[in-house]
Amino acid sequence: MSTPNTAETLPTTGPAGGAPASPGGVAVLECDDVCVHFGGVKAVDGISLQLLPDTIHGIIGPNGSGKSTLIGAITRLTKLTSGRLLFDGEEYQSSPASVVARKRVARTFQTVRLLPDLTVLENIQLGADGRTHDEGPRPNLLKRLLGKQISPAVGEAIERTNLQGFESFYPSELSYGTQRRVEIARAISTGPRLLLLDEPTAGMNQTERAEISALLQSLRTGGLSQLLVEHDVQMMIDTCDHVFAMNFGKLIAEGRPKDVVQSPQVQEAYLGRKWRDHA
Ligand SMILES: Nc1ncnc2c1ncn2[C@@H]1O[C@H](COP(=O)(O)OP(=O)(O)O)[C@@H](O)[C@H]1O
Ligand SMILES: [Mg+2]
Repeated sequence: MSTPNTAETLPTTGPAGGAPASPGGVAVLECDDVCVHFGGVKAVDGISLQLLPDTIHGIIGPNGSGKSTLIGAITRLTKLTSGRLLFDGEEYQSSPASVVARKRVARTFQTVRLLPDLTVLENIQLGADGRTHDEGPRPNLLKRLLGKQISPAVGEAIERTNLQGFESFYPSELSYGTQRRVEIARAISTGPRLLLLDEPTAGMNQTERAEISALLQSLRTGGLSQLLVEHDVQMMIDTCDHVFAMNFGKLIAEGRPKDVVQSPQVQEAYLGRKWRDHA
């Protein structure tokens, strides 16, 4: 468990503010002045941050503030305009997404991206086989999957996400919340060292959200570093050790979830008054 920064560190816009200290002290992932510009749109504009082991990090920020683009940049599905990415201290901003996946960086997407013609079990098994989403279905791999035994990692992922009984269902037969659990199961079945979750509980009810929050916390005790994007402020306070706040592609605050949510920058600049009522 980390020792998050105090509110005094707010605002911070880079490594000077620092990430929380961790027992090992070594960041799993570091973004150094990362920019992703789409023409004139500065979706990510000079983000520097560190993600530590044993820590659940959160990103809050209004729609369009660059959260998903940052996750895309970290996973190398989105091209960086400039800046450096380091995993275990090693630069990888020029590596393809498949190399990043092999470093055991797993993610879920903001919109569900399950393969519709595969069952729940097969979708999760694809994750365990280390397939990355950018590659598209590979016929040989799909063939191999048929008749394949369920690996222990897949069985454990199904159990942890409460998907027992859904194994032979197809995505279209599942509620949206259940489809999202399949995405999470697929991501954790890879045995990730870094898990990036882009609004994983969108479409879930309060009980399902609490279950996902508990799941992420149980994964943390196994040493996993996580980066969670969510709009549910209470869930972020309950789940995260350290929160980053983004606005217009920039980091405007970071620290303990409650401090960040209640900070004037976050309150007044872009989250709006209704967030204060929940904090
Ligand atoms: N592929 C793209 N091409 C052009 N603009 C994009 C693209 N992806 C995202 N953007 C723009 O970048 C900004 C940040 O988007 P996004 O990262 O999705 O924000 P968030 O996840 O915080 O809602 C938005 O203005 C969005 O319209
Ligand atoms: Mg988004």
